Order: sequence, then C-alpha cells, then structure tokens
Amino acid sequence: MIKVFIQTYGCQMNEADSEEMFLHLSARGATRTNNLDDADAVLINTCTVRDHAEHRALSFLGRLCKWKRQNPKRIIIFAGCAAERLGKQLKKRYPYLNILSGAKNIEHFDQTLDSSGLFSPAGQAATPTPGLSAYVTIMRGCNFNCTYCIVPSVRGPIKCLPAADILADATRNAQAGAKEIMLLGQTVNAYQDGNTSFADLLNRVSEIPGIERVRFTSPHPIYFTPQFLQAVKDNPKIAHHVHLPVQSGSTKVLQEMKRGYTREIFLDKVRALQVAGFEISTDIIVGFPTETEDDFAQTLSLVDQAQFIAAYCFKYSPRQGTPAAQMQLHDEQTLENRLDILLNKVKGLCEAAYQRQIGSTQQVLMEEPRKGRSSTNFWVQTGLDFPVGSVVSCKIEKAEGTLLFARNEHD
Ligand code: 5AD
Ligand code: SF4
Repeated sequence: MIKVFIQTYGCQMNEADSEEMFLHLSARGATRTNNLDDADAVLINTCTVRDHAEHRALSFLGRLCKWKRQNPKRIIIFAGCAAERLGKQLKKRYPYLNILSGAKNIEHFDQTLDSSGLFSPAGQAATPTPGLSAYVTIMRGCNFNCTYCIVPSVRGPIKCLPAADILADATRNAQAGAKEIMLLGQTVNAYQDGNTSFADLLNRVSEIPGIERVRFTSPHPIYFTPQFLQAVKDNPKIAHHVHLPVQSGSTKVLQEMKRGYTREIFLDKVRALQVAGFEISTDIIVGFPTETEDDFAQTLSLVDQAQFIAAYCFKYSPRQGTPAAQMQLHDEQTLENRLDILLNKVKGLCEAAYQRQIGSTQQVLMEEPRKGRSSTNFWVQTGLDFPVGSVVSCKIEKAEGTLLFARNEHD
C-alpha cells in the first residue's frame, strides 16, 4: 500500500485537479497521508500564475531531495501549471523527480502513472468523500490572451466537459453528502455543450436531489447573458455571489491587457448583477507595465464605485512568453506603494460592505451547528443551533471583522 502526501498550490481548479489525480492514484492502491515523513509518494500540484507561486512549489521540490535520499524508493510527482511551463528542464535540475505531468495532461494522468512502471495496475478508485461543498470542474483552459497571463499557454484553449459527465459527477457528490456544488472553470460562464448553456447547467445541477446551492468560479464579465440573469431570478439555489476579476479600473490599461471590456462595461455588468441581488468580489493587478499614476487612480475610483465585498490584489508579475513580459517594468518600490494604497482602501470598503448587511435577511447554508455561509458568500454566526446542511433564513444584526451575526426567528 502506497501512502501519498498531496501538496496543492494555486486556485480551486488545482484543488479539484489534485482530487482527480488522487483518485487515479487510489485506483493503483494509494491511500492518503498528511504526514510527509510517513509518505511513500508526494504529489505536488503547482501554479505558475505569478512567479511567487511557482517559486514556492520549486522550493518545496528542492527540500524533497533530503526526503528522497532517506529512502530512494520514494516517488515524487510534479504536476500542474508550473510543470507544464518548465517541462523537461525540471528533470535535469531535480534528477530525483520521478513523474512530470503538466496541466494539459490532466486527462491522461492515469496513462502517465501506468507508463512510469512505478504503480500496480489500476483497480477500483476510492469513493470521493466531499465535505458539505464539492468542486466539479466543468471546463478547462481559456480562449482569451490577456497580455499578462500565462494560463492560456499552460492550460490551452477552452474544452468544455460533456454536460452528462458533469451531472453524473455532481450527483455522485450529492449522494456522498455534498449540499453545495461549486462549478469550476477558468472562464466558467463561457460553458457551452451542444444546446446546454451555462445557465441551463446551473439549473440542472440545482435540481439534483440533495443539492441546496450551486456556486461557480471564475466568470468573465463578457459572458454574462440575459439568460443567466433570468436563471438567477427564477432559481434561489443559484448563489448570489460572483467573483468577477476586473484587473484594472483604467480603460486604457484594460485595452493594453486585452481584457475585452472597458471600465464602463464592467461597471454596467456589476450594476446589473447587484440589481439582481448579487454581491461581488474581484481580482486586481497593480503595476501593469503601462499603468500610470492616473491609471492607478482610476483603479482606486472603480473600487470606490463598485462596492465589492472582497478584492484580491496582486503586484504585476512578468511571465515569460507573455506579451506584457516584453514591456518595461515598474520598479519594485512603485509596485509596493500602489499595492499598499490599494489594500488600505479595499480594507475600509470591505468593512463597509459587511456593515451594509446589517438589517438584511440572508439565506445561510449551515456548515457547523451555529455557522454557515450566506448565498452572497458571507460567513454568518447564528444564535441557535441548526442542522448542518440546512438552509436557514437569518436576519443580520451585527458585523464584526469578516463575520456577520444573525438573529433567528426563535432567538
Ligand atoms: N501578475 C499578477 N497577477 C496576475 N494574475 C494573473 N496573471 C498575473 C500576473 N502576471 C492574477 C489575476 C487573476 C488572478 C488569478 O491572478 O488577477 O485574476
Ligand atoms: Fe488569464 Fe485572461 Fe484567461 Fe483569465 S481570462 S485565465 S486572466 S488569459
């Protein structure tokens, strides 16, 4: 019996990919361990979206040299986006690495394991054991070519999974106890399989017995359709939260990033979603090479206008091979200053977003007897115990930090 330790870097798609890879390993007799010293194999699933993420994965791989020396029979698998980008040069730099499996190879991971000769033949995979919320990948890759982004080159163009497979996957998770399904894709709302649109898929997943809520991430602003807004209006099981990356508040920078929308179009989408009852979080990059002080000021003013509930802010990181990597970089101090200013602003505005919820009624899916997540993606603490997995209507009476406190009917 092989015991495998899994280390995942990066986004939720990577978390889901790690689970998928583990199922292939489990079919070949592997079980999971959280103790590296006890492990016979390590699976590192990597991210390369920013240099820092890649660096962390490589330094973990470097530290495994000693682990492997303790027992040369141990197996190291390096998978995902950084594996795709760096490719075979890794085997030269880290000769003790056994298996390299890039992000484009995820569908063939089983064959990669078999051809390594390090595992026994495949049998029955372990049954997935989701928590209350389960990830289901519905599409991979991206058809955009944002000028700063490495994703299209490491994950390739869009491939949508067949709707029937997605529904089967979601049903398996529901039968194993999941109450919430999180649909995943790089531009998730671009999903289309024959006649099945993204909105159709949301509705069909929400109809699976046992499913109380459907979430999705990450959408792209240009793919929000009237059909999507209609689906949300008619179907309370579709969560009223979207993580909608804006990247910059300056139309000029958005054009240079090739984002496919202007500041005004983005704000219009945000307004339409907010009118439909949504709360919105976002991603922002500071210090894109052509970003001037005025462009940065426009990002600050967009943050003021958009009323986000959260914003993940990143310093621009040049990625080799992307168009923006050819451009003149800002110095590190400029990046630091802009990030500091933005983070300060975001902190204040997000606190205000929590205060705004006071007096509202939220539908909360209980994850613990007294704590759950609202459809709009806030953590809510209740005054009474409720069954885990039930949806409870909560009146918000207080906000502290990143927690809302509810008064329930029986309080
Ligand atoms: N530099 C900094 N941030 C980046 N992101 C993507 N590429 C880069 C880059 N080169 C950010 C974007 C994206 C998030 C996942 O990572 O904000 O939405
Ligand atoms: Fe990267 Fe742009 Fe595709 Fe998002 S939409 S993955 S930022 S290329």
